[in-house]
Amino acid sequence: MANPSLLILAGDGIGPEVMAEVKKIIGWMGDRRGIRFDVSEDLVGGCAYDAHGTPLTDATMAKAQEVDAVLLGAVGGPKYDKLDFSVKPERGLLRLRKEMDLFSNLRPAQCFDALADFSSLKRDVVAGLDIVIVRELTSGVYFGEPRGIFKEGNERVGINTQRYTESEIARVARSAFELARKRRNKVCSMEKANVMESGILWREVVQEVHDRDYPDVELSHMYADNGAMQLVRWPKQFDVIVTDNLFGDLLSDCAAMLTGSLGMLPSASLGAPMANGRPKALYEPVHGSAPDIAGQGKANPIACILSFAMALRYSFDLGEEATRVEKAVEKVLADGVRTADLMGPEGGTPVSTAQMGDAIVAALDASL
Ligand code: IPM
Ligand code: MG
Repeated sequence: MANPSLLILAGDGIGPEVMAEVKKIIGWMGDRRGIRFDVSEDLVGGCAYDAHGTPLTDATMAKAQEVDAVLLGAVGGPKYDKLDFSVKPERGLLRLRKEMDLFSNLRPAQCFDALADFSSLKRDVVAGLDIVIVRELTSGVYFGEPRGIFKEGNERVGINTQRYTESEIARVARSAFELARKRRNKVCSMEKANVMESGILWREVVQEVHDRDYPDVELSHMYADNGAMQLVRWPKQFDVIVTDNLFGDLLSDCAAMLTGSLGMLPSASLGAPMANGRPKALYEPVHGSAPDIAGQGKANPIACILSFAMALRYSFDLGEEATRVEKAVEKVLADGVRTADLMGPEGGTPVSTAQMGDAIVAALDASL
């Protein structure tokens, strides 16, 4: 049987640096576990614009549709700030999400014990934290029409539209309930039903899907602004949070900081099953391209490595190997290996991106 296929789109800024460390883990899986992937690489974001005048070529888009999973680094950078909106690096990523129909974005926020003191919150608020935000990723205000900047009388008006259909809400709700059943069986749905009709519909549909097919799962509803406060006040009250595209974007950055560093958070963006039964899937760190530290070997590769672990679990049914990678990360952190973003106020000597990758590979060796 052919090896499963992976398309690597390292992107811009620190993307290529952190992806280089993921490649070490992919190589390790082949050499030491006999788990081999057919890996191809291509461009996305600013680097694709530089090469082709577009942040994602049709050829790359077609490749992404064919492979078993896409691994993405990060896109964007100040060099591209002045570009026309339609060719900005972010448009490449949004096109991938939309055309692959990756409606369910899983963003786990887990606090490794060794990092509990690095959070800006108190240790008991975050120690042992393990929650997942399920963010709707292909609709809402990110894609709704009408949108644009228009002339109205003597002034310009900027318009974006929050739009959700019942089926879009129902399918992401299902994925949250399915996930909760494999965890602590609790879902909290967040919207602004107090001010938005799309929020009223969101709440109703999530409740209907629950009552019809998932009555065994504990469901609660919360206004998203209160949800933001609760995430900071006592995040351990949550298990799975399901929310729309824009609230999910904000709440997941907030949740990221609970874990100590944005450099730690992986994500999986999943769509409907393909003919081979695997879901359409793209894996990427939650962090961005961090242009301020790009090219200096300072970036933390853990979020990208943990994103690959999510690929092992969700695309390739290799949950044990995913856990092996996660345990290796945990061990390295427990041993005190730290990239610059994980240095506390007391200081110390940070390791480089490559040294962190090597330490994780060594921990993988030790796991055999
Ligand atoms: C994210 C990012 C993206 C988003 C940007 C880069 C388009 O912030 O994945 O959270 O807003 O979705
Ligand atoms: Mg974001």
